[in-house]
Amino acid sequence: MTNQEIAELAAQYLMPTYALPRVAFVRGEGAMLYDADGNEYLDFLAGIAVSGVGYAHPRLVQAICGQARRIMHTSNLFLIEPQVRLARRLAELSFADRTFVCNSGAEANEAAIKLARKWAGQHLAPGQRSIITALKSFHGRTLTTATATGQEKYHRPFAPLPPGFSYVPFGDLAALEAALDETVCAVMLEPIQGEGGINVPPDDYLPGVRRLCDDHGILLILDEVQTGLGRTGTWFGYEHYGIAPDIMTLAKSLGGGFPIGACLAADDVAMAFEPGDHASTFGGNHLACAAAVETLAIIEDEGLLDNARAMGELLIRRFSDMARESDRVDHIRGKGLLLGVKLGGEFAKSVVSGCMERGLVINALGPDVLRLAPPLTITAEQCERAVAIIAEALAEAD
Ligand SMILES: Cc1ncc(COP(=O)(O)O)c(C=O)c1O
Repeated sequence: MTNQEIAELAAQYLMPTYALPRVAFVRGEGAMLYDADGNEYLDFLAGIAVSGVGYAHPRLVQAICGQARRIMHTSNLFLIEPQVRLARRLAELSFADRTFVCNSGAEANEAAIKLARKWAGQHLAPGQRSIITALKSFHGRTLTTATATGQEKYHRPFAPLPPGFSYVPFGDLAALEAALDETVCAVMLEPIQGEGGINVPPDDYLPGVRRLCDDHGILLILDEVQTGLGRTGTWFGYEHYGIAPDIMTLAKSLGGGFPIGACLAADDVAMAFEPGDHASTFGGNHLACAAAVETLAIIEDEGLLDNARAMGELLIRRFSDMARESDRVDHIRGKGLLLGVKLGGEFAKSVVSGCMERGLVINALGPDVLRLAPPLTITAEQCERAVAIIAEALAEAD
């Protein structure tokens, strides 16, 4: 099928939850994508911070095919070897001791919210079950995670919403302190806000949040669905701030493109769950976990954290130069390969289409921010190519 034929079927048969795109990618290799009409694109979006190891990585393909040939799914009524290998590796890499494996970021956050409330039931006062999140946050599209998301546009059409959430401005410690009343059992934040515009908090914010949570005896949940697994140049975003959360969620790049999510916690919190408290039919299946184990090994073996840091610095230099030379770019923000280019006006959409026409995939976060989140395998030459294309698209954007 051509791009056009696929678009026509999508318009006819899919629920209209997505503004219909015109391009259907049918193949990928490394950081390159190919559409149904045979056009080639350099990918600076990575399936929205998912394809960290690039497309069709031979080791990942082999791990998935090999596992599919052996067994894909048996349910959590039985032990699953790749699941325990994944949980062990995540415990080695992070602050956490234990993992619950699910299928997406929203599900990981649902698990985190349930775990925090179950823990609160054992350690806090009966009325202490509410969770504070940040304005401009994004935590998912299920009813509860959409409610946790501090953006009204995701709430309005779907009321009544589950109770027990309140919101504070991100990066504002005084506002958080003022909101911490006797109803709160946890604070839930992204270390760097992704969907909200790549918002980096002041350096002392997360350490301050950690201190406040400790002082109040409540939990800190970090949603690392977008920031985790090398995206910001460290395994996890919290490492930049010298703190650790009590609960962390992962998804997106965990399976290298295969759907998987995870909720992690230290022993004292994780053990609040008992058999029967939470479950998922598909969560932690052999295939997803084999993909995740191999993805983590590739990130480590190929030094992708170092590459994310180096390529991020290169992009920050190039766009900072552009900001000095032209009023089309205001500044660039972010860490590693989770970057937001703040434009000098509201023409992000036009830049995105100009880039697509020139064979570069990026996306816009609102009217004036471009998100750059290429595969962590991206090379300096590919970064320079992307910068040149964005500069051309910026010059023409309206
Ligand atoms: C920080 C964060 N949390 C949660 C989610 C939801 O993940 P999923 O779409 O896999 O449910 C996203 C998705 O963009 C995200 O960026």
